[in-house]
Amino acid sequence: MTTKVAVVGATGRLGQLVSRIVRESDEFELVAELDSRTPLSDMLDADIAVDVTVPGVSQKVVDFAVSNGISVLVGTSGWSSERITSLQSRIADNLEIGVVIIPNFSVGSVLATTFAALAARFFDSIEIVETHHASKVDSPSGTAVRTAELMGAARVKHGPVVAPHTDQRARGQQVASIPIHSLRMQGVVARQDVHFGGTGELLTLSHETLAPTSYEAGILLGLRAARTARGVTVGLDKLIDLTSGLPR
Ligand SMILES: NC(=O)c1ccc[n+]([C@@H]2O[C@H](COP(=O)([O-])OP(=O)(O)OC[C@H]3O[C@@H](n4cnc5c(N)ncnc54)[C@H](OP(=O)(O)O)[C@@H]3O)[C@@H](O)[C@H]2O)c1
Repeated sequence: MTTKVAVVGATGRLGQLVSRIVRESDEFELVAELDSRTPLSDMLDADIAVDVTVPGVSQKVVDFAVSNGISVLVGTSGWSSERITSLQSRIADNLEIGVVIIPNFSVGSVLATTFAALAARFFDSIEIVETHHASKVDSPSGTAVRTAELMGAARVKHGPVVAPHTDQRARGQQVASIPIHSLRMQGVVARQDVHFGGTGELLTLSHETLAPTSYEAGILLGLRAARTARGVTVGLDKLIDLTSGLPR
């Protein structure tokens, strides 16, 4: 039996890709494509709603879906840990649905974030520079926020990073004490560099998305996970066994 999918944000760059993947898959059936002019009730026939809209709208889409017993795959940026915690308590008692939030569908990016969390324990000086295409409306990127939060969590026993002069605007926006610098430029899809400064050495972990096709494998994994997920699942790393490289 196929799983019925509604794509919210279907006219967008990511939405068009998700719709194509769903159309081409034997496991899923595309039952609705919504944009800013479509009522959210158009998703009501779906088993899974995919939210790939804009940060200011995403929470409303997820609230509507879960209130109507529809599981959600979220690709939209802007899901801070506070927002996720509030969603977790909201759906904790609902054993019928799940929300899978994937800040970055690219496997390479997820590995870079995992490596960054490992390195974070060894360096007290850490800064993130994330670069995206000029039409990205939000900053810092969801991936940069998640990377900073995971590095902060990995540093619980080490404390905040050393980030001097952060009262100056040009020193970036701090997340989990780590300054994030956002560049919005033509000629780029998405790039993230995490810089680590140590005693007499620098380490830089870089990931670059060259084409949106890098999201395809992660989107398919996310769709499959959303069929059975319960509660809130965050990050592609939760869907892949990083030691074997196979889906969990
Ligand atoms: N997780 C990942 O790997 C990943 C990768 C790339 C991007 N992203 C994130 O995914 C999101 C979408 O990115 P994008 O590049 O596809 O953006 P985009 O091209 O600007 O598309 C935004 C989509 O949202 C729709 N929308 C806006 N307001 C809406 C509303 N009130 N109700 C329903 N739909 C609404 C737009 O519809 P209209 O055409 O009617 O305006 C459009 O279809 C962003 O937050 C981006 O940062 C995540």
